[in-house]
Amino acid sequence: MKSEKLKILEEEVKNCKRCNLWKERKNPVFGGGNPDANILFIGEAPGYYEDLKGIPFCGKAGKILDILFDSVGIKRSDVYITNIIKCRPPGNRDPKIEEIEACRYFIEKQIEIIKPDVICCLGRHSLKFIFNKFSIKEEANMRKVHGKVFEKNTLFSPVKIVALYHPAFATYNPKALEILKKDFEILKKI
Ligand code: URA
Ligand code: SF4
Repeated sequence: MKSEKLKILEEEVKNCKRCNLWKERKNPVFGGGNPDANILFIGEAPGYYEDLKGIPFCGKAGKILDILFDSVGIKRSDVYITNIIKCRPPGNRDPKIEEIEACRYFIEKQIEIIKPDVICCLGRHSLKFIFNKFSIKEEANMRKVHGKVFEKNTLFSPVKIVALYHPAFATYNPKALEILKKDFEILKKI
């Protein structure tokens, strides 16, 4: 069962000290939603509120994400949401390469267990990681690729990768929300 496999993995995350981020975390944020989801959303790393509550996208960026879900008729309970990094980088700084490498075991396992048909990358860190993982030879330049879908065959099934701006982008840029809404429309088609 996917949910049982994910629970076991979540226990591993709770005890994880693979990188130094465990030292300052209040809670690791494993991810959540529907283990049988067809769509997996991957953000960057927990922020202040996520660290406090242990829930992905429960702060300001999460509110934007909810607006975007609403705009295309997606419910949180239909999808699975997680991040590349499971513990909050102090002061919300960018994750370091060595932290992404240390944590990749968990996101790789989550993808392997959930086997999503569609992976939505929220932001360039997530997109860069997924392009790399699926050997997609595109530059992870959001300005060029946002709203685009990349198809890749894996051992078990084809996967569609969708490039989306990080919702936090829209917390300080009102035009960005319109761009994000437009890009989210693609999810209705696929
Ligand atoms: N930003 C992210 O990338 N992920 C979260 O969970 C919250 C904010
Ligand atoms: Fe472990 Fe990832 Fe947290 Fe680092 S960020 S301690 S690798 S769970």
